[in-house]
Amino acid sequence: MNAQKYVIGNWKLNPATLSQACQLASSLVQMDKSVQVGCVPSFVHLSAVGELLAESSILLGAQDVCAKTATTGAFTGDVSAGQLADIGVKFVIIGHSERRAYYGEDNALLEAKIQQAVDAGLTVVFCVGETKLQYQAQQTLAVLDEQLSVLKSVPADRLIVAYEPVWAIGTGLTPSIDEVIGVHRHIKQVLAGYAMPTVSVLYGGSVNEKNAAEFATAFGVDGALVGGASLKIEAFSQIVAAFADN
Ligand code: PGA
Repeated sequence: MNAQKYVIGNWKLNPATLSQACQLASSLVQMDKSVQVGCVPSFVHLSAVGELLAESSILLGAQDVCAKTATTGAFTGDVSAGQLADIGVKFVIIGHSERRAYYGEDNALLEAKIQQAVDAGLTVVFCVGETKLQYQAQQTLAVLDEQLSVLKSVPADRLIVAYEPVWAIGTGLTPSIDEVIGVHRHIKQVLAGYAMPTVSVLYGGSVNEKNAAEFATAFGVDGALVGGASLKIEAFSQIVAAFADN
């Protein structure tokens, strides 16, 4: 069985205003439907974007989730998986390198977040990837093995993995296609060892309208997690089209 394909736009802390977020969401609705498209606005824009996407097949995602509870409680500043599910959110990004680097998120915390997301019925888009130094030291696969180890007991139908080399995020740099294919093969072997043979494995890191077709045709690449280019509607629709064609 082939893994489902996804093209997901991670808007990060963008755009600056609610009206810009709504404009982006409205243009997404017009896009090709032969690949599953997702968009991940910031928390404050989720409800409004969700309403605009309600009649479409586009999946709404969140960028973070409370590690302490899936419901409610005294956790100032947090948003729970249950609250997200209640407003129509379908998935949450966990393990993004920006959260690991800037907020010190470690395996124990990520595991707790995964558990809360799964408990509330959300799908987890789990990001893994090596730093430039680890890449140069040829430690990529060992780093990924350690990051993937938190997934052992996640239900396979609630999981998507995104391979995002840290040094490729927002830099315009990407690994070669052969390197990406090799890493995806390795991730799929690890997941098969966890009895998850059909989990989708996306590539992320400087995907744009020019290189999307190359990633889309690469063996074992089941879609893309797109940052910067997901904020430019023309570029994002070309990326979606590239994955829809292949
Ligand atoms: P980028 O970001 O496409 O801007 O490199 C990808 C990501 O962080 O998910």
